Formats: sequence, C-alpha cells, structure tokens
Amino acid sequence: MTFTPQFLDDIRARVPLSDTIGRRVRLVRRGREHVGLCPFHKEKTPSFTVNEDKGFFHCFGCGAHGDVIGFEMRIDNLTFPEAVERLARAASLELPVHTPQDRERAKERTSLYTVVETAAAWFQEQLSGSGGAAGREYLERRGLDAATIAKFRLGWAPDSRNALKRALTGPGISETMLVAAGLLIAPEDGGASYDRFRGRIIFPITDRGGKVVAFGGRALGEGTPKYLNSPETPLFHKGDQLYGVALARNPAREAGEVIVAEGYMDVIALSRAGFENAVAPLGTALTEAQIQELWRLAPEPIVCFDGDAAGQRAAHRAAERALALLRPGLSLRFAALPPGDDPDSVIAKGGAPAMRDALGAARPLADVLWTMESTGRPLDTPERRADLEARLYARARQIDDAAVRRHYERHFRSCLWKAFSPSSMPAGRDKGMGRSRGGPTRKPVPEPPLAHSLGIGADGQSERRERLLVTMILNRPELLAKVEEEFAALDMTSPQLDDLRRAILSMPNPPPDLDSAALKNHLSNLGFLAAVEHLSAPGEWSERRLEDKFARPDLTLAVAEMGWRHVLSCHSQAVGLKAELRAAEEALAENMNDENLARFEATRRQMEREIRADVGFGDWDPEVGNLESGGPSPDGPRVA
Ligand code: UTP
Ligand code: MN
Repeated sequence: MTFTPQFLDDIRARVPLSDTIGRRVRLVRRGREHVGLCPFHKEKTPSFTVNEDKGFFHCFGCGAHGDVIGFEMRIDNLTFPEAVERLARAASLELPVHTPQDRERAKERTSLYTVVETAAAWFQEQLSGSGGAAGREYLERRGLDAATIAKFRLGWAPDSRNALKRALTGPGISETMLVAAGLLIAPEDGGASYDRFRGRIIFPITDRGGKVVAFGGRALGEGTPKYLNSPETPLFHKGDQLYGVALARNPAREAGEVIVAEGYMDVIALSRAGFENAVAPLGTALTEAQIQELWRLAPEPIVCFDGDAAGQRAAHRAAERALALLRPGLSLRFAALPPGDDPDSVIAKGGAPAMRDALGAARPLADVLWTMESTGRPLDTPERRADLEARLYARARQIDDAAVRRHYERHFRSCLWKAFSPSSMPAGRDKGMGRSRGGPTRKPVPEPPLAHSLGIGADGQSERRERLLVTMILNRPELLAKVEEEFAALDMTSPQLDDLRRAILSMPNPPPDLDSAALKNHLSNLGFLAAVEHLSAPGEWSERRLEDKFARPDLTLAVAEMGWRHVLSCHSQAVGLKAELRAAEEALAENMNDENLARFEATRRQMEREIRADVGFGDWDPEVGNLESGGPSPDGPRVA
C-alpha cells in the first residue's frame, strides 16, 4: 500500500509525539523537550530525548532517531505500512481507499487465512486424538513435552488420502480454497484432489504477527522427503518467512539478539533450552528479505547452522548475501558447531550451557570472510599474497554502504599486514593460515555514536592519508629534511604505521644522499619488509583519487613537498572536523535548540563533503598541475 506525503503529514500533525512515546517510556519534561530512559538500549541515566516542536526523538546513547512513525516501527518491529495504519487508527484518520482489485485480493487473502487457521487447529486435534498416537510417540522420543507442542502448535496429518479434505470442505471452505491454500494437491490430469500432508508431524509456519500462513510436515522415521512444505501461495512466500518469528520477536528484542538456526527442530529445541529468540529459514539459503527481517529483530543476528559441510556452505552463502546489505551497526555473527551437530543435538548432549558456549564464541562477519578466503592458501610467495589481497578487496567492493566498505578495507588491510609481517609467520611461513589461528580480531575503534550511526566516521580516510604521508617519504627520502618536524609530530591511527614512522625518524645519521631503495632496504632489515612492500604495491594507490597521485615515485622534489604538505593539511582538517562533530553533538545533547541543531547539521554536512571530496575528482596531473596557495578549500584543491 502506498500513502501520499499529505496523508503522512496529517498523521504526524494529528498524533502528538510525546503522547505516543509517553505511553511506552516514562518521560520527564526538561525545557522544551522530554527526556527518559531509551527504550532501544539499556541505560541508567536518560539520554533519550523527544522534541515535540521538531517532531522527532533522538537518543544520545545509541543514536536511535526518528519521527512518530519511526518510533512505532522500532518499538514494535512494525513495517512502515503497519505503523502508519496503527497511527491512523489512533488518530481516527481514514486509510486511503484501495482499488477494487486490491479489495478482491485482500478478501481472498482473508478467507485463505481462515482456511489455514482452521487446518492448523484440525492438525492439532488430530495429534491429541486417537489417530495421533504415532505422532505423539515420535515427539516424545525427541524429547518434546506437552507445553512445547502447544506453544509451537504442532499437529498430526493422518496417513490418509483425504482425511483433511473430508473434514474441512463444507460451508465456508471450498475445495478450490483448500487447493489455493496448498493443503490439497489437484492433479494436472483433472483427477480428484487429495491431501498434501499425509502421515506427518505438522509444524505451522506463521507470519510476524502469528497468523498461520503455511505448514511444514516431517515424515516419521526415514520417510522421504524428510520435510515437505506448503507450496508458494498468496499467503506464503518461502523466501520471505522465518520459522518461529512470531514467538521469537519479543524475546529477541529483549535480549537484543536473535539466533538463526537451520531447521524446525532446532528452533524448538533452542526455545525449550531457554533460547526463545530463535528462528530458521525454511530449507533454503538465507534470502535478502530474511536478512532484513532479522535486522528488525536485532542488529547482529547469530547464524548457527549445522556443523557439517552443507551447514558451513549455507553459512558462507549467508555471509556473501549479507555483504551488499551491510549498514553501519548491522551485521551477522557466526557460531560454529562441532561437525555433525546441529543446535538440537548440541542441546541434547550438553544442555543450555553447551549452546551458550557456542553462541558466546560467535565470530564477526569480517573474520569469517577472512577465514573463508585465507584458509588452506599458503602465503609463501608474493603472487599468492597478492591473490589473497585481491580476493579480500573484491569482497569489500561488494559492500554497498560506503562507510562500512571503508572500514572493511581497513580491517582487511590490517589483517593482511599482520599475516604478511615477518613476526606473525616465524614457524608457519609456508603453512598458510589454518583455521586454528583464526582471523586476527580487532576491536572496532569506538566512534561517537551519532557519527557512527550516520556512517560518517572518517577513520579510514585519516589512516589512508597517514599511509600516504609515509609512502611519500619512502619514495623521496630527501623530503625528510624538509618536513621532519611535522612528520615527528604526526599521530598515527594504526600502531604498525606508527612503528614504521618511528623507525624512519630514528635512523642514525642518515646520509644526505639516502635514496628510496636504500631507505627501504634499511627498513626491511629492521623487520618492516611486509609493510614497505605493502605501501609500495601498485594496487595500493588509485589513479582516480587526486591525493593518491602523490604516491607516484617519480615526482620532482618540489611537487613532492607541496603534495606532502597538502595531504598533511587535509589530514589535520579532517581530524579537527571530527573533533568538532563530537563537540557539536555534545552541545546538542546539552541543549537541543535551533542554534545547536544548526551547528551539528553544518558540521555533519561538511564532514560528508570532506568524505565525498576524497574520491575521484578532476584529472589533475601532479607534474603540470599547481595547487592554489592558501591551502585546500573545503571541496579540495582545484584544477589550475
Ligand atoms: P535438517 O535435515 O537439518 O533437519 O534440515 P532438522 O531440522 O535437523 O530436522 P530433524 O532434526 O532431522 O528432524 C534443515 C531444514 O531444512 C528443511 C527443513 O526446513 C529443515 O528443518 N528441509 C530439510 C526441507 O525442507 N526438506 C527436507 O527434505 C529436508
Ligand atoms: Mn536435526
């Protein structure tokens, strides 16, 4: 359903923000705002602010931000239309009228809902009735108690061609509807329709709101196929649904975590062991829609697939699928299970503690990608190292979000650096990096929450400039005599780079004619071979970034010095801007007045400009070009 902007504005105008939020959060008036404890993260002192005049809420603790519709969506995990409908009802606003086709489709869906719900209740009855003994025994053998069976509404489909057909067709439910709901199979040749599920345990599949939309049926024992699912119907699109989502929703929100298992029985076993925040896709690889749905439940869903080869492949596919979708703060984590185990069997053997251990050891997506690419590949030659580097950067390029992509590139760079540096491979030089060593884990650098949620932290960019400054000195050691003081005063983001900088500065009596090769040789002897190789790698610097052109080894000394000072000045400006953003955000937290809001917005815009300016503009050639005197403008240097 689409809503006109006019209609949305009506809602925003008619529903007082502080009333809506006040129903969920205890708010205290403070000046022109209301403040309270943020409902979206755990906190002891209130940093959640509601500004009625401006029509938005903002949390200075976790960065949650939005208007009244956004609040409803977040607080109850609603979709946009669901939130709009709820607010419209509260404000007694009429929802926009649908076309006759819309109404027809809605009517058909409504009646199909009734059909599947009736069937779900009937399957439940069959399980507890006299014909359900085989099903009950099976579930008991698998350790399910009555409460679990009731909670998941498990049922039994009698082993008969038309028990369901006979029981359900009647006033209000036609054979056609049962076929449309996927409960009867109508043969192509026009023969009589018959029950789809026969002699199977029934697992009702619900939508987010708990309405049954489809079924999964498990054969007893070794029957094939092991699981049979409803076909695609107007109510059921397999790739959009997650098994268990309605029951897992609130527990996931409360825990701030959601577990993604592979199968029906895993979800149920997890729930029984106290992990009620578990869901599963329905026998397919995780789809984009499912990943988005998971992110509505928790920011970093833990994928916990079977510990066999197929489970690992499925986990890798999920990792690949998630890449393009990553956003600041949203990712996946991966818990490994012993080969041959799934959550159901882990819990059967080791109970909840065993499961908790596995979940606690879940690894971030970035590490899993590193392992995927590096495991079993020796890194003993430059070509093999370059190959790994290319693979990792290709992965990073799949990320749509620029901020996340930058941080991935940086993370991979640092992993590569560690893996290639002599100290990290003393004995394992020709062994590659096995799973045992694992990927290097690095805690993300904390950033101010709001800057982070906007994805405009400029760490990657700053580090890039620092590397450029070092590279230029490696290329033209004569520069050192001219900029030594500034170089000595630089704070480097990365510790490895800082070590290299210190090594350069601490050279005893550098000869006046020290050339690039001699300097690099000297540093290699000190153990910086990998770092030096890395900075001089041709792929490291882009032809499309203006600043990167200064990494060329063939600049004249005059251009090199000018370039070095230019990069340094951009770097200092970016560092200053970041500090200003932090200060502006603090001021805004103190007092959310127009002036502070304007200051914050202006700083943020400038920062965005800064980041955009960093990538590819102009065809400025360092050999002929000239930088304007007076330092860089906010939009970067201009072409002369
Ligand atoms: P598994 O074979 O791992 O099943 O398939 P499971 O959940 O561990 O089930 P139990 O413990 O043997 O009873 C994982 C999921 O893949 C789908 C189902 O959704 C299942 O839960 N699947 C599996 C099918 O759709 N069809 C099949 O034939 C098998
Ligand atoms: Mn299983």
